[in-house]
Amino acid sequence: MPYVPLSAKETEKNLRKSGTKEKILALLNERKGTSYSGQELADTLNISRTSVWKAINALREEGVKIEGSTNSGYTLAPESDVLNSYVVEALLNEDSRSFYRINCVKTIDSTNLKCKSEAESGAYEGVAYIAEEQTKGRGRRGRSFFSPDSTGLYLSILLRPELEISDAVLITTAAAVAAAVASEKVNDLIKEGDVKIKWVNDLYLNDKKISGILTEAGLSMETGGFDYAVMGIGFNLAPPKGGWPDDIKDTAGSLFTEDSCPAGTRNRLAAEFLNEFLPIYKALPDVTYLSEYRKRQLTLDKEIDVIDGAGNKKRAHAVGIDDRCGLIVIFEGEDEPVTLTSGEISTRVI
Ligand code: BTN
Repeated sequence: MPYVPLSAKETEKNLRKSGTKEKILALLNERKGTSYSGQELADTLNISRTSVWKAINALREEGVKIEGSTNSGYTLAPESDVLNSYVVEALLNEDSRSFYRINCVKTIDSTNLKCKSEAESGAYEGVAYIAEEQTKGRGRRGRSFFSPDSTGLYLSILLRPELEISDAVLITTAAAVAAAVASEKVNDLIKEGDVKIKWVNDLYLNDKKISGILTEAGLSMETGGFDYAVMGIGFNLAPPKGGWPDDIKDTAGSLFTEDSCPAGTRNRLAAEFLNEFLPIYKALPDVTYLSEYRKRQLTLDKEIDVIDGAGNKKRAHAVGIDDRCGLIVIFEGEDEPVTLTSGEISTRVI
């Protein structure tokens, strides 16, 4: 479908539909643990006390833990880690604030699907959907992505890249580097360089996968180039309350342990990631993050299985990353190095 941009006014209207609820949440979040009276909230937002009361009730129905009443004052429970567009925006740097249009939602089918539908309605690049839970999280190779409530962060960005289709992998690898750096910024318990990247773009901590990325593209029939790309990333912040599903229980891990994830981490991680991603995305096709991408590789100098789309395995030695983020390997019994670039190929360290 041809790209028909919405006017700035229409986009603003579409993307900032909500308002009162989110603003109240942002105010309560600033004073987490101490109260805000109904009157103070009403005066600050220039709305009636009834509107405050209605918004508080709606937030409570969504599961946000707000204690108190309009007379005694409202308090956001100190342990709450609710995603909020205003909080995320406040943590963005200036460039990010003018590029991204942040939409935080509690539950969604898939943030990638939502951004794809925005793309097809002509939305500008920079639209971002961030969710606490996905009911139809999409993973690579047509798999689903486990996206439980309370312990994860699911984020997608609509992009309109001016890149060759063959450079699509650079969007994904840029996101992997941004995610690794952002993850270390929000977790003081880990060191710089602890978060590794398993080629192409899975994030690992202590040999467990803590984050996955899925970039989906829409092509323009006229130019043969990108109409849009949607870059989606899912983070496991803490172990899920009900445990990991059987199929990933041996490989999945989380950025924090059960009790070590501080309140407010979700908003911070979202903002740090968006801030880290923007400059390296804007610099593409220059791969300004190449040394960071190389440095964090989990696979290098190791024996690996290279698995193609049909599931066929071939043993190889991983020897390097080329300057377009391809993985250079030497297959068993061969002498010449080969560069792997296809997103259909996966690797397993032996
Ligand atoms: C993978 O490891 O297979 C990639 C997983 C990508 C998951 C993210 S979560 C946010 C975005 N929305 C989706 O439905 N998928 C991506």
